[in-house]
Amino acid sequence: MIEIGPSILSADFARLAEALALIDGAGARAVHVDVMDGVFVPNLTIGPPVVAALAKASATPLDCHLMIVDPDRYIGHFVDAGAARITVHAEACTHLHRTVHATRDAGVGAGVALNPATPLSQLEEILPDLDQVLLMSVNPGFGGQSFIPGTKDKIERLAGQIAARGLSAEIQVDGGVGASNIAELVRCGARRFVAGNAVFGAPDPAEALAELTRLAEEALS
Ligand code: DX5
Ligand code: ZN
Repeated sequence: MIEIGPSILSADFARLAEALALIDGAGARAVHVDVMDGVFVPNLTIGPPVVAALAKASATPLDCHLMIVDPDRYIGHFVDAGAARITVHAEACTHLHRTVHATRDAGVGAGVALNPATPLSQLEEILPDLDQVLLMSVNPGFGGQSFIPGTKDKIERLAGQIAARGLSAEIQVDGGVGASNIAELVRCGARRFVAGNAVFGAPDPAEALAELTRLAEEALS
Protein backbone atom coordinates (compact mmCIF):
# COMPACT_ATOMS: atom_id res chain seq x y z
CA MET A 1 0.00 0.00 0.00
CA ILE A 2 1.24 3.47 -0.91
CA GLU A 3 1.57 6.09 1.83
CA ILE A 4 2.35 9.71 1.06
CA GLY A 5 2.94 11.87 4.11
CA PRO A 6 2.87 15.59 3.42
CA SER A 7 5.60 17.25 5.48
CA ILE A 8 4.28 20.16 7.49
CA LEU A 9 7.84 21.55 7.53
CA SER A 10 6.92 23.10 4.17
CA ALA A 11 3.56 24.43 5.40
CA ASP A 12 2.97 27.86 6.91
CA PHE A 13 3.70 27.34 10.63
CA ALA A 14 1.23 30.12 11.48
CA ARG A 15 -1.52 28.17 9.69
CA LEU A 16 -0.90 24.57 10.68
CA ALA A 17 -4.60 23.90 11.31
CA GLU A 18 -5.32 24.75 7.69
CA ALA A 19 -2.52 22.43 6.52
CA LEU A 20 -3.94 19.61 8.65
CA ALA A 21 -7.47 20.19 7.38
CA LEU A 22 -6.17 19.95 3.85
CA ILE A 23 -4.30 16.71 4.59
CA ASP A 24 -7.29 15.20 6.43
CA GLY A 25 -9.60 16.22 3.59
CA ALA A 26 -7.32 14.65 0.99
CA GLY A 27 -7.44 11.31 2.80
CA ALA A 28 -3.65 11.13 3.30
CA ARG A 29 -2.49 8.11 5.30
CA ALA A 30 0.07 10.10 7.32
CA VAL A 31 1.26 13.56 8.25
CA HIS A 32 5.06 13.81 8.32
CA VAL A 33 6.40 15.79 11.28
CA ASP A 34 10.07 16.85 11.11
CA VAL A 35 11.55 17.28 14.58
CA MET A 36 14.97 18.99 14.54
CA ASP A 37 17.20 19.91 17.47
CA GLY A 38 19.77 22.29 15.98
CA VAL A 39 22.51 19.76 16.90
CA PHE A 40 21.98 16.68 14.75
CA VAL A 41 20.89 18.99 11.93
CA PRO A 42 21.47 22.72 11.44
CA ASN A 43 17.85 23.68 12.00
CA LEU A 44 15.37 23.89 14.89
CA THR A 45 11.73 23.06 14.46
CA ILE A 46 9.14 21.61 16.79
CA GLY A 47 8.85 19.40 19.85
CA PRO A 48 6.29 17.36 21.81
CA PRO A 49 3.94 20.26 22.72
CA VAL A 50 3.38 21.07 19.06
CA VAL A 51 2.96 17.37 18.22
CA ALA A 52 0.30 17.15 20.96
CA ALA A 53 -1.52 20.12 19.44
CA LEU A 54 -1.32 18.53 15.97
CA ALA A 55 -2.71 15.26 17.32
CA LYS A 56 -5.69 17.08 18.78
CA ALA A 57 -6.35 18.92 15.55
CA SER A 58 -6.01 16.02 13.11
CA ALA A 59 -7.31 12.49 12.65
CA THR A 60 -4.45 11.54 10.31
CA PRO A 61 -1.65 9.47 11.94
CA LEU A 62 1.43 11.51 12.86
CA ASP A 63 4.64 10.13 11.36
CA CYS A 64 7.36 11.71 13.51
CA HIS A 65 10.88 11.92 12.07
CA LEU A 66 13.29 12.72 14.89
CA MET A 67 16.45 14.46 13.67
CA ILE A 68 17.79 14.81 17.20
CA VAL A 69 20.72 13.40 19.17
CA ASP A 70 20.01 10.75 21.81
CA PRO A 71 16.31 10.44 20.93
CA ASP A 72 15.81 7.91 23.75
CA ARG A 73 15.27 10.86 26.07
CA TYR A 74 12.17 11.94 24.19
CA ILE A 75 10.49 8.77 22.89
CA GLY A 76 8.02 8.74 25.80
CA HIS A 77 7.22 12.42 25.30
CA PHE A 78 6.41 11.93 21.62
CA VAL A 79 4.33 8.82 22.39
CA ASP A 80 2.36 10.74 25.03
CA ALA A 81 1.93 13.60 22.56
CA GLY A 82 0.18 11.26 20.12
CA ALA A 83 2.81 10.09 17.61
CA ALA A 84 1.65 7.09 15.56
CA ARG A 85 5.14 6.24 14.33
CA ILE A 86 8.58 7.36 15.46
CA THR A 87 11.64 7.19 13.24
CA VAL A 88 15.08 7.84 14.72
CA HIS A 89 18.41 8.25 12.94
CA ALA A 90 20.90 5.39 13.20
CA GLU A 91 23.64 8.04 13.29
CA ALA A 92 22.11 9.61 16.41
CA CYS A 93 21.65 6.49 18.56
CA THR A 94 24.30 4.80 20.68
CA HIS A 95 21.90 2.02 21.70
CA LEU A 96 19.69 1.70 18.67
CA HIS A 97 18.18 -1.63 19.73
CA ARG A 98 17.05 -0.13 23.03
CA THR A 99 15.56 2.92 21.30
CA VAL A 100 13.66 0.85 18.71
CA HIS A 101 12.30 -1.52 21.34
CA ALA A 102 11.27 1.31 23.65
CA THR A 103 9.28 2.69 20.71
CA ARG A 104 7.67 -0.66 19.88
CA ASP A 105 6.92 -1.40 23.54
CA ALA A 106 5.07 1.91 23.73
CA GLY A 107 2.74 0.64 21.01
CA VAL A 108 3.77 2.90 18.15
CA GLY A 109 5.46 2.12 14.83
CA ALA A 110 9.27 2.09 14.89
CA GLY A 111 11.49 3.31 12.08
CA VAL A 112 15.19 3.90 11.54
CA ALA A 113 16.48 6.60 9.18
CA LEU A 114 19.79 6.61 7.31
CA ASN A 115 21.49 9.72 5.96
CA PRO A 116 22.61 9.60 2.32
CA ALA A 117 26.21 8.63 3.20
CA THR A 118 25.27 5.98 5.79
CA PRO A 119 25.53 2.43 4.43
CA LEU A 120 22.70 -0.11 4.57
CA SER A 121 25.01 -2.39 6.56
CA GLN A 122 24.09 -0.31 9.64
CA LEU A 123 20.67 -1.99 9.52
CA GLU A 124 21.80 -5.59 9.40
CA GLU A 125 20.93 -6.56 12.98
CA ILE A 126 17.96 -4.25 13.57
CA LEU A 127 16.06 -4.72 10.29
CA PRO A 128 13.80 -7.56 11.56
CA ASP A 129 12.54 -5.29 14.37
CA LEU A 130 11.50 -2.36 12.17
CA ASP A 131 8.20 -1.22 10.73
CA GLN A 132 10.05 1.01 8.32
CA VAL A 133 13.41 2.23 7.08
CA LEU A 134 13.53 5.88 6.12
CA LEU A 135 16.13 6.49 3.43
CA MET A 136 17.11 10.15 3.32
CA SER A 137 17.38 11.29 -0.28
CA VAL A 138 18.72 14.71 0.77
CA ASN A 139 20.95 15.68 3.67
CA PRO A 140 18.48 16.31 6.49
CA GLY A 141 17.71 19.76 7.85
CA PHE A 142 15.62 21.57 5.28
CA GLY A 143 12.74 21.13 2.87
CA GLY A 144 12.95 21.97 -0.81
CA GLN A 145 16.31 20.33 -1.60
CA SER A 146 17.14 18.28 -4.72
CA PHE A 147 16.81 14.49 -4.71
CA ILE A 148 20.19 12.69 -4.57
CA PRO A 149 20.08 10.23 -7.53
CA GLY A 150 22.18 7.50 -5.85
CA THR A 151 19.25 6.89 -3.49
CA LYS A 152 17.50 4.82 -6.19
CA ASP A 153 20.16 2.15 -6.11
CA LYS A 154 20.07 2.18 -2.30
CA ILE A 155 16.29 1.61 -2.34
CA GLU A 156 16.68 -1.31 -4.75
CA ARG A 157 19.40 -2.93 -2.65
CA LEU A 158 17.39 -2.52 0.56
CA ALA A 159 14.21 -3.87 -1.07
CA GLY A 160 16.25 -6.89 -2.21
CA GLN A 161 17.56 -7.51 1.30
CA ILE A 162 14.11 -7.21 2.88
CA ALA A 163 12.65 -9.67 0.35
CA ALA A 164 15.57 -12.11 0.62
CA ARG A 165 15.26 -12.20 4.41
CA GLY A 166 11.46 -12.45 4.34
CA LEU A 167 11.04 -9.30 6.43
CA SER A 168 8.20 -6.83 6.51
CA ALA A 169 9.83 -3.39 6.94
CA GLU A 170 8.55 -0.81 4.47
CA ILE A 171 10.89 1.63 2.72
CA GLN A 172 10.12 5.34 3.10
CA VAL A 173 11.91 7.95 1.00
CA ASP A 174 12.32 11.48 2.33
CA GLY A 175 13.65 14.49 0.45
CA GLY A 176 13.13 15.85 -3.03
CA VAL A 177 10.25 13.49 -3.83
CA GLY A 178 7.81 14.80 -6.42
CA ALA A 179 5.80 14.07 -9.54
CA SER A 180 8.94 13.66 -11.66
CA ASN A 181 10.42 10.78 -9.64
CA ILE A 182 7.77 9.13 -7.44
CA ALA A 183 6.78 6.44 -9.98
CA GLU A 184 10.40 5.39 -10.44
CA LEU A 185 10.89 5.23 -6.67
CA VAL A 186 7.89 2.91 -6.38
CA ARG A 187 9.43 0.68 -9.04
CA CYS A 188 12.70 0.65 -7.05
CA GLY A 189 10.75 -0.76 -4.08
CA ALA A 190 9.68 2.20 -1.91
CA ARG A 191 6.07 2.33 -0.68
CA ARG A 192 6.10 5.31 1.67
CA PHE A 193 6.99 8.85 0.69
CA VAL A 194 7.43 12.21 2.31
CA ALA A 195 6.45 15.22 0.23
CA GLY A 196 7.05 18.73 1.54
CA ASN A 197 7.69 21.21 -1.20
CA ALA A 198 5.90 19.05 -3.80
CA VAL A 199 2.66 19.49 -1.84
CA PHE A 200 2.84 22.78 0.06
CA GLY A 201 4.87 24.57 -2.63
CA ALA A 202 2.21 23.77 -5.24
CA PRO A 203 -0.48 26.29 -6.21
CA ASP A 204 -3.12 23.71 -5.22
CA PRO A 205 -1.66 21.44 -2.48
CA ALA A 206 -4.67 19.08 -2.40
CA GLU A 207 -4.44 18.54 -6.15
CA ALA A 208 -0.65 18.02 -5.93
CA LEU A 209 -1.14 15.36 -3.26
CA ALA A 210 -3.83 13.61 -5.31
CA GLU A 211 -1.56 13.62 -8.37
CA LEU A 212 1.39 12.16 -6.41
CA THR A 213 -0.89 9.44 -5.04
CA ARG A 214 -2.21 8.64 -8.51
CA LEU A 215 1.32 8.43 -10.00
CA ALA A 216 2.55 6.18 -7.17
CA GLU A 217 -0.45 3.86 -7.26
CA GLU A 218 -0.27 3.57 -11.02
CA ALA A 219 3.40 2.58 -10.78
CA LEU A 220 2.45 -0.15 -8.32
CA SER A 221 -0.12 -1.80 -10.54
C1 DX5 B 1 14.37 17.14 5.58
C2 DX5 B 1 13.10 16.55 6.10
C3 DX5 B 1 12.07 16.32 5.07
C4 DX5 B 1 11.59 17.54 4.33
C5 DX5 B 1 11.22 17.09 2.95
O1 DX5 B 1 15.33 17.08 6.57
O2 DX5 B 1 13.33 15.31 6.74
O3 DX5 B 1 10.97 15.59 5.61
O4 DX5 B 1 10.48 18.15 4.93
O5 DX5 B 1 10.91 18.20 2.19
P1 DX5 B 1 10.91 18.13 0.60
O6 DX5 B 1 9.87 17.13 0.18
O7 DX5 B 1 10.56 19.54 0.19
O8 DX5 B 1 12.28 17.72 0.13
ZN1 ZN C 1 11.52 14.12 7.31
